[in-house]
Amino acid sequence: MACVCQASRYVLYLTAQHPIFPPDAHLADVTHVVLAFMKSSSFIGRSSPTWEPFTSVESVRAKFSKNKSVQIMIAIGGWGDTNGFSAAAASPMGRKAFAENVKAMLDATHADGVDIDWEYPGGNGEDYKQITNSEKSWEVEAYPKLLAEIRAAIGPDKIMSAAVPGKPVDIQVAFKKETLSEATKHLDFFNIMTYDLFNRRDNVTMHHTGIDNSLIAIDTYLMNGIPPEKANLGFAFYVKWYRTDGDCSRKPIGCKTALMEDPKTGKDLGESGSFSWHDKVPEELKKSFHAALNNREWDNDGNYYWDAEERIFWSWDTPASMAEKFPAIVKRRKLGGVFAWGLGEDAGAYLHLKTLNALFRKYLKPKPKSIKPQKDEL
Ligand SMILES: *[C@@H]1O[C@H](CO)[C@@H](O)[C@H](O)[C@H]1NC(C)=O
Ligand SMILES: *[C@@H]1O[C@H](CO)[C@@H](O)[C@H](O)[C@H]1NC(C)=O
Repeated sequence: MACVCQASRYVLYLTAQHPIFPPDAHLADVTHVVLAFMKSSSFIGRSSPTWEPFTSVESVRAKFSKNKSVQIMIAIGGWGDTNGFSAAAASPMGRKAFAENVKAMLDATHADGVDIDWEYPGGNGEDYKQITNSEKSWEVEAYPKLLAEIRAAIGPDKIMSAAVPGKPVDIQVAFKKETLSEATKHLDFFNIMTYDLFNRRDNVTMHHTGIDNSLIAIDTYLMNGIPPEKANLGFAFYVKWYRTDGDCSRKPIGCKTALMEDPKTGKDLGESGSFSWHDKVPEELKKSFHAALNNREWDNDGNYYWDAEERIFWSWDTPASMAEKFPAIVKRRKLGGVFAWGLGEDAGAYLHLKTLNALFRKYLKPKPKSIKPQKDEL
């Protein structure tokens, strides 16, 4: 009997920007919901905040009435929020205080676990031009120590996960073998962010959540020692666009982009961006986006469109590209789960959520054990 009886994860981030829910029936397969974010700085020192997430754990649990044992977690940090982690990680006392605050927060909110979104220990974060990676290199060793202290404080029954980068340049800063072999001991799973694989620091076009680069990211973590059952593949419920420099009609992938961030300050130059399926499409992009949706190309790695008139490159997932990733990555590498950023970002059609539901059921959801196996199953 082909019973995949090991638990598989289906994780959704719920963001403060889009705290929106579909009818319960579309949430029946979800195993974990992660509320994003609480600020890392509220966990340092002997603070005694009231620990209020943007929405209560109870109210979220009620939305998932189809699965009473859905695990509700709280994410700390997120893009640009590194100061609290850095301050806490710097000393044994700081780490201990941070960990005790995480424990107090879980007790106060009745959450089932915590997701550590330090982007990233060792650098390459939003402030990488202000604080160089060499000034942050000590954080690489401090990161698993912080995780160890949090695990000691919250105990084995609470869940702890971490969001980790998908781009090779970011992975190599902190997520090497030495770090991951330690981190793995303390974490239940890793949300590997296999999206934003193109960002404004790049200078040639590529898919932002392409199949090949997603597999490369996953394989890097597996090679660096995390067990496949602790790895979750990430899905992005949003679209990315960016401006190119010249004509990309001959060579759409690997074509030179415009300069998208200030090389000195790291500031955004307005030549790239993203929006979720729930956001209003910016007026000035409407025409180009509609052209992209209607004329998209598929190169066996992802969907894209290059708008010759506006010189805009578009990159996004469709149900078809999402479906490719299950045999090509999730099943092939026997991953323990998937996750998406984020639930409300896919409102109100919830096309990508419904697609992920169906794919999860097909490839990952444990099949119910029949007590009396049917003849044809034997
Ligand atoms: C409900 O969530 C729990 C906890 O994550 C999971 O183990 C279980 O498989 C889920 N049940 C269903 C019916 O999806
Ligand atoms: C892109 O940047 C890299 C270094 O980061 C450089 O080696 C390469 O020549 C650049 N490519 C283009 C097309 O500008």
